[in-house]
Amino acid sequence: MRLIFLGPPGVGKGTQAEKLSKEYRIPHIATGDMLRTAMAKKTPVGMEAKSYIDAGKLVPDDVIINLVAERLKEPDTSAGYILDGFPRTIKQAEALSKILKENRQGIDRVLYFDLNEEELVKRIAGRRSCPACQKVYHTSFNPPPQEGICSCGTALVQRKDDRPETVKARLVVYRNETSPLIQHYREQGLLSQIDADAGVDDVTGRVKEAVLGKKSS
Ligand code: AP5
Repeated sequence: MRLIFLGPPGVGKGTQAEKLSKEYRIPHIATGDMLRTAMAKKTPVGMEAKSYIDAGKLVPDDVIINLVAERLKEPDTSAGYILDGFPRTIKQAEALSKILKENRQGIDRVLYFDLNEEELVKRIAGRRSCPACQKVYHTSFNPPPQEGICSCGTALVQRKDDRPETVKARLVVYRNETSPLIQHYREQGLLSQIDADAGVDDVTGRVKEAVLGKKSS
């Protein structure tokens, strides 16, 4: 099963992808996580991506497309995957469709997570992430077992791009560059819109219903 999780920053794509990847036993491929790992390791891709991520801008298409193309060659993707945060531009969507066509594959469903801006900002403001295992918490909505500490024992951090001024920039970038993908995939009959304004488990139920029912909206 090949799924794309699409939606604004902070809507809960990563939280849902993590849960479903375990349940469906397919990898969760999150371009944001891949870039943050590359930044931490100071690889050439990480060094190039840093200034874009810190400013809330998109990393250039070519860089991301190469990164994902390489990742999709790994054997663990043979039974499917969840793409979280990719594609994010029409150019990236076209590149993905070319890769899939070359492999005689297709996308099963694109889940578009929808949430109002006020709630998005609340979710981002309270997010804390684990720099070691990438697990994501929320100070109020999904707190860690021990304050400030991940279940793996590492101290949690707030992402640098979650500062209010950068969040504003990311929302503008989302509206201008990523939201056209909603119509792009709707026209292909692949889109299911998920109302993300509910608790984590309720949203998971909605996602599973959409994936199994393949109902377009
Ligand atoms: P990326 O890491 O992909 O960030 P994003 O898309 O902005 O998404 P987020 O990680 O902010 O949010 P999410 O939807 O995963 O929400 P989460 O589950 O964490 O990208 C970062 C940067 O990398 C980009 O700005 C760009 O520079 C670059 N980049 C990445 N991909 C790229 C690409 N393809 N092209 C170019 N550049 C790229 O949840 C948020 C919070 O809410 C958490 O605290 C969580 O616990 C909580 N929460 C989740 N669900 C619920 C719920 N139902 N109720 C209450 N709280 C909830």
